[in-house]
Amino acid sequence: MHVRLDDPVDLGAFRRHARQLLAAGVPPDRVEWNASQATGDGADLFGAASDADAAPPAALASAAQHQPVPAWFVELCGDVILHRDPQRLALLYRLLWRLSHEPALRHDPLDADLMQARQMAKAVHRDIHKMRAFVRFTRVLGDDGLERHVAWFEPEHRIVEANAPFFARRFAQMRWAILTPERCVEWNGHALAFEGGADRREKPPPDAGEQLWLTYYEHIFNPARLKLAMMRREMPRRYWHNLPEATLIQPLAEAAAARSRSMIEAPPTAPRRIRAPIALHLRPAAGVAPADLGELRAAAHACRDCPIGALATQAVCGEGPLGATHMLVGEQPGDQEDLAGRPFVGPAGQLLDRAMAQLGWARDTVYLANAVKHFKYELRGKRRIHKTAGQREAEACAHWLDSEISLVRPQGLVALGATAARTLLGRPVAVQAERGAWLHERGDGRPVFVTLHPSALLRLPDAEQGEAFGHWLADLALARGTLSAAMAA
Ligand code: URA
Repeated sequence: MHVRLDDPVDLGAFRRHARQLLAAGVPPDRVEWNASQATGDGADLFGAASDADAAPPAALASAAQHQPVPAWFVELCGDVILHRDPQRLALLYRLLWRLSHEPALRHDPLDADLMQARQMAKAVHRDIHKMRAFVRFTRVLGDDGLERHVAWFEPEHRIVEANAPFFARRFAQMRWAILTPERCVEWNGHALAFEGGADRREKPPPDAGEQLWLTYYEHIFNPARLKLAMMRREMPRRYWHNLPEATLIQPLAEAAAARSRSMIEAPPTAPRRIRAPIALHLRPAAGVAPADLGELRAAAHACRDCPIGALATQAVCGEGPLGATHMLVGEQPGDQEDLAGRPFVGPAGQLLDRAMAQLGWARDTVYLANAVKHFKYELRGKRRIHKTAGQREAEACAHWLDSEISLVRPQGLVALGATAARTLLGRPVAVQAERGAWLHERGDGRPVFVTLHPSALLRLPDAEQGEAFGHWLADLALARGTLSAAMAA
């Protein structure tokens, strides 16, 4: 018997045929399975299958009965059907046949057919995961004047439909499309639409966000931590030609040994100036709220309510327009912020800049601030290593942020990380559990949106950064897009 599926990933059609064949007693070696390529006609994946001509003859079909199959096998079929191997349908039907004729099979973990199917499912899962990690969107302005994010990706298996809902959830606020050679998917903010394959030449040209990403990638590449074998495992070569950063990997890897050596051999940097304590009479009067941001800066600079201020170069207050809709609040200035006197100018700030550029969110339209105004660090040799401010220090500093909020009057507050979230909400916050939604708990009525601090992303292993960055980007997109709805709530 010859069975043809018009859609190679139509699990429903496969199950219908397989059930009928099994009920009719057709053994696997009598069936030839065939699944054509997706046709690109935009048809709904699980809509009516055009496979009527492939149904078993009426005499056999009328004998069809539903055979109970274990739930794990149905799940396995859902994964294996996405595999590119042309023999996958024959394998699945053979397994179905054997499961109903050999009761011991389901308890045999070493059976060759089962092992092969499980390996295929694993390869599909891995491809799904890699697509989530390695899709890189480029911003494109359409003829209709609308902005879209477009990515080109070459999956190993037929995973586009299965993976699309993930991207719809992650990038719900963006209009985006993912083009692949066999299947394309588009999200218009409300619904997913699928089309046939695209040509590599339709891939959009690099945008400014991509250049920023490359600069950032080069900047954070640490030659002393390079583990090539692990990198190859997590980022297989077949994905490289669509990853902008891949062009950098080889030269950076080649130069890594020499760069590490020169880091070790370099003379220590000159010790930095440590500020003298501020005289008592210059300290701000307790309980007097600053009248404007200038006064706030001067008063925070002189603050010695906790020991951090005495060691920092200067207080780093926020920057941005008065009346900004959003205030983004970080933890505390880092080494570079402390020297520059501006928030978010170091590596974490560059990552935040990149995310905002990708979302088309201009940095100068938001107010960027920190929960703690002075840089807390520990001297290790000549280097100043960031130390998280303690709870008492953060509490002592909270009134400066309150003053800043009263002066800037943002409509919503975005807490980047646990310190900011705790300061803004006045309670401990588990960031992973509470991220991604507006919380209405503050006495002043301003909603607070919790997400990760960019430094948390920088600390992740290279292979996890792409996916985590995508998730973070989706959080920020949500925080940017849903504030008026949150205010009305
Ligand atoms: N991390 C922060 O939380 N704030 C900055 O300004 C820089 C790094």
